[in-house]
Amino acid sequence: MTKLIIANWKSNHNLQSAKDWATSVEGYLDSFRVNARVILAPPFSFLAGLRRIADRTLIELAVQNLSHQTAGSYTGEVCSQNLEGLGVKFAIVGHSERRRLFGETDEQVAQKVVLAINAGIRPILCLDEPYLQSQIQKVKAHFLENQINLEEQEMIFAYEPISAIGSGQNESAEKVSQVARVIKEAYGARCLVVYGGSVNAENISDYLAVADGVLVGGASLQADSFIKLLSVLYK
Ligand code: PGA
Repeated sequence: MTKLIIANWKSNHNLQSAKDWATSVEGYLDSFRVNARVILAPPFSFLAGLRRIADRTLIELAVQNLSHQTAGSYTGEVCSQNLEGLGVKFAIVGHSERRRLFGETDEQVAQKVVLAINAGIRPILCLDEPYLQSQIQKVKAHFLENQINLEEQEMIFAYEPISAIGSGQNESAEKVSQVARVIKEAYGARCLVVYGGSVNAENISDYLAVADGVLVGGASLQADSFIKLLSVLYK
């Protein structure tokens, strides 16, 4: 199965370095057949600048967050309508940094999932064990309320243990496999589960063996180190 390799830049880069990264990764993907879907989640401000690159290459665009509100008077928020025309296919929602630093709740994250789906954007819902069950229940309740059929959704979940993020303390593949099973039991076999937390070129293969892909922060920032990750999927 084609694996998902998701680059989460968080609040890093400027437009020029973002374009340079995309040109390097594009060059690699042009030259080598890689059995992966490469998804880049840059800061919102680079989306328009990267649009052309995403249009003509295999790099697909995601956002790192989405407002839990629809369009309106919400200064500083970016809602699904604001993304129209930018070629955004995926939205990371409920990242632990958003929950921890910006007070996002299970309720708001469930609202974001629904708004993304209604806008034709595929959510990548980040989960960790402390809120795995409560978040799953909240999303199910919102699906019911909004008449969204769970079975028809190809949800993507990112299992991201907080202790593993940016720490070098990557979770064991056994644990990832166990949590992926729990998520698939709750959401049906159609959903995809990726792992995130200190993924690098040395450990990526362990996760690709037990999950549908990886969500990469630190090791995605420089084109060289990201290409090293991709080279594992060279066929
Ligand atoms: P990391 O970040 O790869 O730097 O640990 C992952 C994430 O926060 O999504």
